[in-house]
Amino acid sequence: MSKTAKIQIGEETYEYPILEGTRGPKVVDIRSFYKDSGMFTFDPGFTSTASCKSEITFINGEKGELRYRGYKIEDLVKEHNYIDICYLLLHAKLPTKEQSLEFDNELRHRAFVDEGFKNLFNAFPRTAHPMAMLSSAVTALSAFYFDHLNITDDLGFEEMATRIIAKIPTLSAIAYRRTLGIPLIYPDIDRYFTENFLYMMRAYPGGKFHREVGQIAPTTVKEIEVKALDTIFTLHADHEQNASTTTVRTVASTGAHPYAAISAGINALWGRAHGGANESVIAQLEMIGDVKNVDKYIKKAKDPNDPFRLMGFGHRVYKNFDPRAKILKKLQDQLKEELKLDSRLLEIAHKIEEIALRDEYFVKRNLYPNIDFYSGVILSALGIPRNMFTAIFVIGRTVGWISQWMEFKKDPKAKIARPRQLYLGD
Ligand code: SDX
Repeated sequence: MSKTAKIQIGEETYEYPILEGTRGPKVVDIRSFYKDSGMFTFDPGFTSTASCKSEITFINGEKGELRYRGYKIEDLVKEHNYIDICYLLLHAKLPTKEQSLEFDNELRHRAFVDEGFKNLFNAFPRTAHPMAMLSSAVTALSAFYFDHLNITDDLGFEEMATRIIAKIPTLSAIAYRRTLGIPLIYPDIDRYFTENFLYMMRAYPGGKFHREVGQIAPTTVKEIEVKALDTIFTLHADHEQNASTTTVRTVASTGAHPYAAISAGINALWGRAHGGANESVIAQLEMIGDVKNVDKYIKKAKDPNDPFRLMGFGHRVYKNFDPRAKILKKLQDQLKEELKLDSRLLEIAHKIEEIALRDEYFVKRNLYPNIDFYSGVILSALGIPRNMFTAIFVIGRTVGWISQWMEFKKDPKAKIARPRQLYLGD
């Protein structure tokens, strides 16, 4: 195949190099096209545009393949916990036992937040959406921890990364407890990352737990719950140049500090076309209410004049099963009995999947269930309310955003993101 691409416009021929990565499609390097031709390319939604070079996450949409730093997601969830995945994404290699213990220890000690955050959260009404509180609190980190506003070396990167990854679960749990009007629970350094989050969500003040009559304090959090949520965090950890990661890189390109970039990523993720879909999936299953209504809603989803879409279906990149969805579906089956998953919602979800996967409308458009289609039923069974689902996505994805932010900042050729337009005005 030729090493260059030619663009013929009238009498002029413009030639551009074809660059090849280690995996995935080649790219035509058209960075000088405007300078050469006085014309722009046009690609709203970036359906055919590579915005950067990266070594972090690779997706093969046709095959339904996802790799973090070259490792297949199916292998990673089997053999590693979430904080090892964080280490892998940040450092491009899996940690040794010692490195894992040291990283775990760092995260436990940095999980605490300044007492001033109590005033910030108490300023919100109890009706505030946790995502509104979380994105505000992450921006506010820059006011309390300003030693990371200007990072100049690897130690600074690492410290900033550990600090944000460690504090986001604490801030998320405080946001949840604010919606209930109950006091926050401090992190417990004797608990692993994921267990600590569920503890901060559930415990009574003083770290106690609800007791059935005659029951001594139950184990606060079951091992199977920690494993399930840890897998969910891992599946959400990174996903190439999705909308919220592109937002984080765009904010990074202006020179803004990491807290501003992560807060922008949180707000981009909130949209129901993106990370907000997990909350919408459960709302949609509740609205459908019964398997006998599924046909009516499939019809609505197919109607070009009806804005209704099947939440949790379709993906810009996956034109096959989202591998994360496959893993979550298996997890649902494993947890069904143990965690008493909502069988009514499961039945509706499976009916939707069964009909959609053989319906010509969905098959022709390669619309498969994505990660959001299956996560909500498990999160509900863990006692996590629907308005906290996207915050769970944030906890998992923060390491991906930071890894991508760091990769951008370390690129000596990085430029400010500044696309142009096709102007149709006066
Ligand atoms: C995430 O990018 C990532 O990597 C994101 C993510 C990550 O980990 O970061 O994977 C997380 O955001 C997953 C996606 C969650 N969103 C949803 O589940 C919302 C429902 N899905 C869609 O709105 C949609 O599928 C998108 C937004 C996910 C993808 O949209 P695209 O790629 O822009 O596709 P499109 O809107 O151009 O749709 C192509 C066709 C259209 O029909 P035609 O115009 O060709 O007739 O498919 C149809 C769409 O109408 N279509 C759907 C549909 N999704 C697409 N029809 C019904 N139901 C749907 N869900």
